[in-house]
Parts: sequence; C-alpha cells; structure tokens
Amino acid sequence: MCGIIGIVGLSPAAPRVIESLRRLEYRGYDSAGVAAHTSAGLERRRAKGRIRDLEAVLSVEPLQGHVGLGHTRWATHGAPNVANAHPQKAGRVMLVHNGIIENFAELKAELIAAGRSFESETDTEVVAHLIDAGLERGLEPLAAFKAALNRLSGAYALGALIEGEPELILGARRGSPLVVGYGEGEMFIGSDALAVGPFTNRVAYLDEGDYVAIDRTTARIFNADGARVERAVRTVAASAALVEKGNYRHFMEKEIHDQPEACRHTLSSYLDPINGHAAPPEGFDFTKVERLQLLACGTAYYAALIAKYLFEDLAGLPTDAEVASEFRYRNPAVTPGTLAVAVSQSGETADTLAALRWCKAKGLTTAAIVNAPESTMSREVDHVWPTHAGPEVCVLSTKAFTAQLTALICLAVAAARQRGRIDAAEETRLVQTLLEAPRLIAQAIADTEDALRPLAFDISKARDVLYLGRGAMFGLALEGALKLKEGSYIHAEGYAAGEMKHGPIALIDESTPVIIVAPSDNAFDKTRSNMSEVIARNGAVVLITDEAGLAHAPSQARSVVAPTCDPLIAPLVFAVPLQLLAYQVGVAKGADVDQPRNLAKSVTVE
Ligand code: F6R
Repeated sequence: MCGIIGIVGLSPAAPRVIESLRRLEYRGYDSAGVAAHTSAGLERRRAKGRIRDLEAVLSVEPLQGHVGLGHTRWATHGAPNVANAHPQKAGRVMLVHNGIIENFAELKAELIAAGRSFESETDTEVVAHLIDAGLERGLEPLAAFKAALNRLSGAYALGALIEGEPELILGARRGSPLVVGYGEGEMFIGSDALAVGPFTNRVAYLDEGDYVAIDRTTARIFNADGARVERAVRTVAASAALVEKGNYRHFMEKEIHDQPEACRHTLSSYLDPINGHAAPPEGFDFTKVERLQLLACGTAYYAALIAKYLFEDLAGLPTDAEVASEFRYRNPAVTPGTLAVAVSQSGETADTLAALRWCKAKGLTTAAIVNAPESTMSREVDHVWPTHAGPEVCVLSTKAFTAQLTALICLAVAAARQRGRIDAAEETRLVQTLLEAPRLIAQAIADTEDALRPLAFDISKARDVLYLGRGAMFGLALEGALKLKEGSYIHAEGYAAGEMKHGPIALIDESTPVIIVAPSDNAFDKTRSNMSEVIARNGAVVLITDEAGLAHAPSQARSVVAPTCDPLIAPLVFAVPLQLLAYQVGVAKGADVDQPRNLAKSVTVE
C-alpha cells in the first residue's frame, strides 16, 4: 500500500525521493507527492496517478533542498486526487501517513470547532493539524508530535517535516512498519528497507508505538512511553539490485521465472538431503499439535487451502484454513492444542496480523510462514517459518505463492513423519521428490510458456472464464482465477470440479472458456467426467494435464501439457501454466500486470 521515504541528506532530495518512490511503486498507489525544505521554506509538489506524473510536475516546478519527504498514496479516505495526495499540510507541518486513523472524525470535529479549516478529505490532514496545534501551544516539535500521537487510534506510519526545522524529520509507527536508514553523514526513514535501499542497507526497524527524530547524523528513538530506546541496526540484503527487472518485460514475468530458485532456497531451510529428513528451521514438535489453524488472505489463503488437504492426508492432522478477515471477526471456537499458522508474503497484511494477534491473546502457539524476515509477523510469532522468494515486486503474487506451498509441503512431510503416519523410508522418498521440484518448475515454464500463447490470445477475448479442479487442484483453480482477474480484469471463478453441476454449469456456453487443471492423479477420472459435462454443453475446454492425462483427453479439449510429477509437488508444477496464462492474457489485453488498478501489494488496512 502507501509508501514513505524521508531523507536528511547531502544532495538534492527530490530526485532521490523519486528514485525511492519508484522502488515502492510495487506496493500499489494512485497518487504521489514530495515535500522539501527549500530556501523559500517548506514546499510540496503532488500529482494524481503515477510517479511519472509527479516528475512532470517537478519538471515544471522543481523543488530544491536536501531534506525531503515523499509518499505514494493508496486511497482510503477520499478520492485519489491532488488535494488528498500526501504530504498533507497544516500550518508549519507537512505530513505523510500510511494506515488509517480510526478516530479521525471526532478529532476533525474538535479541530474545526477550534477554528481550523481543512483542504482534503483525508484522515492524515487531521494528524497534521494536531501536530500544528501543539506547535501553536508552544510545544517543541518532538513534544507536539508525541502529543498528537497520544490522541490517535488506528494504524499509522508517519513522517513529518516542520517549518523552521530544516534538518529534522519526525517519524512514528503503530500498526504500519517504519524503518530508520543509517547512511554516511545522512539519515533516512522509509516504509520498508526497499524504500531506503538505494541509499543504505543499514536499517533499524521501529517497534510498535516507537517514534523517532532524525537529523543528518543521528536518530533519537523513543518507545510508546516516551523513554529513549535503542533499536538494533542491521545490514539487510534488500539491495537495490534485487529489484531490477533484468531482461524481462514485466516483474510478473521475471518472478514466474524466479520460481525454481525461490523454491530451491526455501527447500534448503526445511530439508536435510543427506539424511532424507524434513523439519522447519530450529525444529518443531508436531506430535503435541491437536489441530492446525491456517490463516491468510488472497493468494496466501489458497496456498493454505492446498496445505489443508496435505496436512490431513499425509499427517492426519486436523487442519482448517480460513480467510483471516472472516476468522478475526466471527468469534471462532479454538481449542488449546491448536497451532495457529499465518501464511503471508509481506508479514504485514492487517487482517492476517489481527487474526494472529487474536490467537495469541487466546494463548495459542503461533507461527508464520513469511517471506519478509523483518516483518511484524516475523517479530510477533513464536516460530518463524521462512520462505526465501526474495522481494516480490509485481502486485500479483507468483513466486511467493509457490515458496509458501514449498514450505507448507515440507512442514506436512515433517508432521507426517513425527506423527508416525509415514516411516523413514517414505520420508526420504518424499524429501527426494521435493528436491526435484525446482527442476520440474523450470521444466513447466519451458514446456508451457510458448504453448500457452495462442490460447492466451483467444482467452483475452473472453468475458468470463471458469477454472475447475479437484483436491489440491481445487486450490489452484481458485488461484488461477484470481490471477486472471487481477492480471487481465477478465471475470473468472474457480470451482471444485464436482461442484460445477450444482450451479456454475449454468454459465457454460461456447463463449465461456473452462480451464480444467487435472494431472493424472486419483481424481483424474472424476474430473474427466466433469470435462465431458462441459463439452456436452458446447463449453470450450482447456485441459492442463500431464502426458498420461493427455492420452485420455477428449478430442474437443485444447490441452496444455505440464511435466509428469509426484502428486506431492503437483501444486508447485501446475501453478506455473496458470500463472503464465494470466500473465500472457494480461499482456495481450495491454493491462498493467505489475500494478493492476485498485490493488496494493501489502494490504495494511483491515
Ligand atoms: C494476489 C495477492 C494477494 C495477496 C494477499 C496477502 O496476487 O498477491 O491476494 O496474496 O493480499 O498478502 P500477504 O501474503 O502479503 O499477506
């Protein structure tokens, strides 16, 4: 979602802010802005739309000064327009904000009653006024900032510039992350390590409730009680180089091709190839777990849904997978032996985090399968189970999804062995099978990428598309449909193949492509019957299968053949053609596949 960069630097700030905001584009946004201390005082430039629109404004009205603040905004309160873009201004204060201030309406009424007037519909402007009101009462900037923070409920990461304080940036975090970057004679704040990545890889992550004042050489950090604290400065790997597109046309294409590597790196944390064992890093005892509660949103939820089948089938471990936003607000009946596991690429998704905190408050053991090692979830759970997909820039999740699946499959094998459902020989066989996954993912890319193109061209003309699958392929059908919706804006639905006759079959006609994901597993014959039902109604069937499945494919189906693989890793291998199809349809339609409209990468509002 929104992104923040603040620079107390040695060279002009505006171009550096732009460079950083470009790195944050992947988070999703609909307006952008920059403010800086100039010789004429505190000034700002803002634009609706893309960073290039902000650059166009800056080319007409340049912004001088070495101390600046930038923001990409994903609209929550008020339309995406210039007036609502950040930085928001009130008196001596320029403010950028990620998150939502829940009590903004009461505060706004109070401020209006006190004679203040507002230019935007944002909750952020309220905070700027609160700080300015403190300054007017004679408080020092840091005290005015803290006094304003004390009045806020909701989630925020904030960055502020104050007129008359040309070497100071104030920052705060509650609910949304904020990092402090340590440069050579320069200091930064950013919404994540990538934001400050072009300038430094030495960062400190603020804790919940922390606030900070940076100048050119120091960061003074305070906790929620106002006590001065130190936060560890670490060297992070999120270097600028990691987020380049290389020779690919889009990040989505690159990240699909990154998957063999992401899978391999993730496997290395869970598998001991020499002894044929599977275990999470630092080990874990699954024999004490009575029930598994998987919590996630979107694509990560589909990874969890596929894992539910695996944990129950392989390990006999009762498992629920639930959309975090539902779980959190429905008063679920959890039992003490339940292990709550969040699945999240960013580790910041507000719904997943809220569900996790709810479980923690109920006294459950918590774990997170997470791609961002320094994220809030990583820091709050009892067990961090990492995925090593590297930074995922495209808003559409691809490599993070298969990395989540990789970790989940490894965990299911570990649980199966510990719980006595499989013997050592079977564990070794499954570990060997997993070790083949990176090669088979690469082969799936090589085998299907070109074969899918004519199909993608035809599907780009469809209005609706149906995806069907059984077992683990049901989760992939849901994921395939989500990818197509996001990447191409074509309406798509995923269904359990057996459910089609209970309703969605009404949609079948010659203009509705039906994509059936069916490797030749023990559900193949049943899915084949569902395929016949579609063909009997003149539906245009696309069968995604393997060599053995192809031998039984009806002549009316257009088939795409993925590599033959063990059912354990079929979700990893068969995810690939679905991702490629969504990508190619999106490109054929000329859609902005890396940053589709209305979407954000890290959804930090509930
Ligand atoms: C879809 C997509 C989203 C995310 C969801 C959860 O392509 O990327 O559905 O999967 O917003 O995000 P994380 O995994 O960061 O919790």
